[in-house]
Amino acid sequence: MMKDKKALLLIGSPKIKNSTSEALGNYLLNRLKKGYIIETLQIKKSLKDDLGVLLEKINNCDLLIISSPLYVDCLPAPVIKIFEEIADYREEKNLTKKQSLMAIINCGFPEYFHNNIALKICRNFAERNGFHWLGGLTMGCGVAINGKPIDQLGGMTRNITKALDLASEAIVEGGVVPVESIELMRKQMFPKWLYVMAGHRGWKSQAKKFNVNNLYARPYAE
Ligand SMILES: Cc1cc2nc3c(=O)[nH]c(=O)nc-3n(C[C@H](O)[C@H](O)[C@H](O)COP(=O)(O)O)c2cc1C
Repeated sequence: MMKDKKALLLIGSPKIKNSTSEALGNYLLNRLKKGYIIETLQIKKSLKDDLGVLLEKINNCDLLIISSPLYVDCLPAPVIKIFEEIADYREEKNLTKKQSLMAIINCGFPEYFHNNIALKICRNFAERNGFHWLGGLTMGCGVAINGKPIDQLGGMTRNITKALDLASEAIVEGGVVPVESIELMRKQMFPKWLYVMAGHRGWKSQAKKFNVNNLYARPYAE
């Protein structure tokens, strides 16, 4: 297949290392190499470095992928900022290029559905700004990945890799994100009790590290 189409992955996580959004996005992007020339940018860094270059790259791609964490039931500030910048930029230009957009949102809670509103924001953004919406994938337990390559995490991520494989195959063939892919991605990686237990341990060890004695303190309570 002749590769002349470009896929641009925008990482929404402000983290400079161990980003789950980056791990998920990179896995998908590598599978998209079959049909696309690929590139990855971190939104926060690119906004700082050169907004003009970032907007040009977005305008020149055929497929835009947003991979982001959930922050306070919404998208992190750099993602909102770039959405606003893209909207302003595109209003001033007469754009004729056909472009598609898909999103991957992961959150820290075990259930995928906390991401629903953030995904709707991505869809709304795509539809109002001339992108063909390909759909989105959402998952919980994002902390468990912690930036590790998802194909090196064994059985734990088997549904995720399958979901992303199916999505990439469909997109390379000119389709949208398949329902099967959406459902596989939503499956919890482990039983909720196990994830919550590990979470409690994590909070306790951080408290110890920072000399916090009372994790239940409510200093501002009436
Ligand atoms: C400031 C902040 C706000 C967060 N808000 C939520 C939230 O509202 N719901 C949730 O389930 N997880 C929340 N999380 C957890 C992240 O979504 C989760 O850790 C995710 O896997 C991080 O992805 P990343 O490594 O790509 O940044 C929050 C994390 C941070 C740092």
